[in-house]
Amino acid sequence: MKKIQKKIIAGNWKMSLDYQQSISLARSIYKKLKKRRTKNDILLFPDFLSFPEISRNFKSSGISYGVQDVSPFSLGSYTGEVPLESLKKMNCSYILLGHSERRKYFDEDRLVSAKIRNILSNSDIKPILCIGETIEERRKGKTLELLEKQLRDAFSETKSLKGKRLIIAYEPVWAIGSGKIPTSSDVALAHEGIVNIVSKIFKANKPKELGILYGGSVTVDNFQDFKKIESVSGLLIGGSSLIADDFLEIVDNF
Ligand code: PGA
Repeated sequence: MKKIQKKIIAGNWKMSLDYQQSISLARSIYKKLKKRRTKNDILLFPDFLSFPEISRNFKSSGISYGVQDVSPFSLGSYTGEVPLESLKKMNCSYILLGHSERRKYFDEDRLVSAKIRNILSNSDIKPILCIGETIEERRKGKTLELLEKQLRDAFSETKSLKGKRLIIAYEPVWAIGSGKIPTSSDVALAHEGIVNIVSKIFKANKPKELGILYGGSVTVDNFQDFKKIESVSGLLIGGSSLIADDFLEIVDNF
């Protein structure tokens, strides 16, 4: 597996903004970005209601858009779900899956494998799988065990990733929104573990390229720490992605 070439800086807006706020943040990032060149790929993940307008109106060569979830099912009688079939017809390049907030509140542990199967077998949209340990798991020394379980579960319905590019976001649950970050060596160890586990799961059918992002309390003040870690292919940013200038400072300098 080769490491992905271009770095990815992704902004996960969660459900932090309403429709108007999302549109104005997207406009602000888009306008500021037009005035500069960036060597990194920028990914923005607004909520479902803002996504169509943002992805249609703020197209730029440096920005790709994605959503924060998708239905595990194809079109049918599934009240309240968002179909992959519609996202395929929009400017949607990525889908976040397995985020710890979805695992905690929305049964994602159980649904993630079917969502990944649906995306990979029915579209060219790229899933970004989030995994990460809780503080209890870390204290018990069970981080790698947990990462392996989450990866095996997520890909239990996927036989091969041959020729594909896989992106994983390593986000320790205890680091998300807490202001706490892991040490560089802990991140490097987790990333090394993820590479080994993916190879072990897929063997001859492993992806051609693997990108591992770090996520959890990344700010303008600490992002350089992650830049120094060889295995980090980019960042998944929550809170700091809601401030256009902060987000773009990270984009420019990562
Ligand atoms: P945070 O969120 O940067 O606000 O910690 C990261 C994430 O949940 O993806």
